[in-house]
Amino acid sequence: MDQLKRQAAARALDEVRDGMQLGLGTGSTAKHFVELLGERVAAGLKVIGVPTSEATRADAQRCGVPLTTLDDIDRLDITVDGADEIDPQLNLIKGGGGALLREKIVAAASDRMIVIADDTKWVPTLGRFPLPVEVIPFGLGATRRAIEKAFAECGVSGQMAVRKAKDGHVFVTDGGHWIVDAQLGRIADPASLAQALSAIPGVVEHGLFIGLASSAVLAGGEGIRVIERR
Ligand code: A5P
Repeated sequence: MDQLKRQAAARALDEVRDGMQLGLGTGSTAKHFVELLGERVAAGLKVIGVPTSEATRADAQRCGVPLTTLDDIDRLDITVDGADEIDPQLNLIKGGGGALLREKIVAAASDRMIVIADDTKWVPTLGRFPLPVEVIPFGLGATRRAIEKAFAECGVSGQMAVRKAKDGHVFVTDGGHWIVDAQLGRIADPASLAQALSAIPGVVEHGLFIGLASSAVLAGGEGIRVIERR
C-alpha cells in the first residue's frame, strides 16, 4: 500500500515545474510527495510550498523544501494532497488526519488541486468513511443538534463521535478546534450537505471537498490512473 502511495506521489511530481508555488497536503500519501519533492529541491528545483498542517511543516523542513505562507503570496499553482474518499465527480472526503481546515484553505487558493491516493480510496458514492466536521468546543451540544438537523434535511443520518487522540484525550486540530466524525454510510447529495454544514455557526469546516480537485492520481495493482474533473 505504501508503495502505491509513493507511486501516486511520484506521478504528481511530474506536474511540478521550476518556479512553482505549491500547496503541500497532509497524511501518509502527501508525506511521500513532500519527501520526493525534497529530493528534487536538493537536485536544484526551485519551488516554494505552503504546508497544510504543522506535521507537514515539520516534514517539509526536514526534507529541505522552502516554505512560505498565504500572507506572503496570493496564489498557488498546484496543491498536491491525499484524500480519504474520492468519487467519480472528484468530490472528496478529507480530514482523516485532522487537517481539513488548512487543507481546504490551501486547496481553494490553488489553480489546481491534484489528489494522490491508492485506488482503495476510489468509491462510487461518498460516505463509508466517517465525515469529519471541525467544530468550536463552545456550545457543542447546540452545534451537534444543528448538524443532526442538517443531516436529516439532506437525507442522511448516523452516529456522531467527538474524535479522540491516541492518548484518549480529545483530538485538538492545529487551529485549536475539535472534530466530530459522522458515520453516514452513503451521502447521495454531497454538495447540498456541504452547503448545509457550512451554514451552521459552530461548524468551522467540514471534510466534504466539492469541486476543488482538478485531477486524481490513483495507484493500484494494474498501474496508475489519472482522472481529470470534467
Ligand atoms: C488529512 O487531514 C487528510 O485529509 C488526509 O489527506 C487524508 O486523511 C488521507 O490521508 P492518507 O494519505 O494518510 O490516507
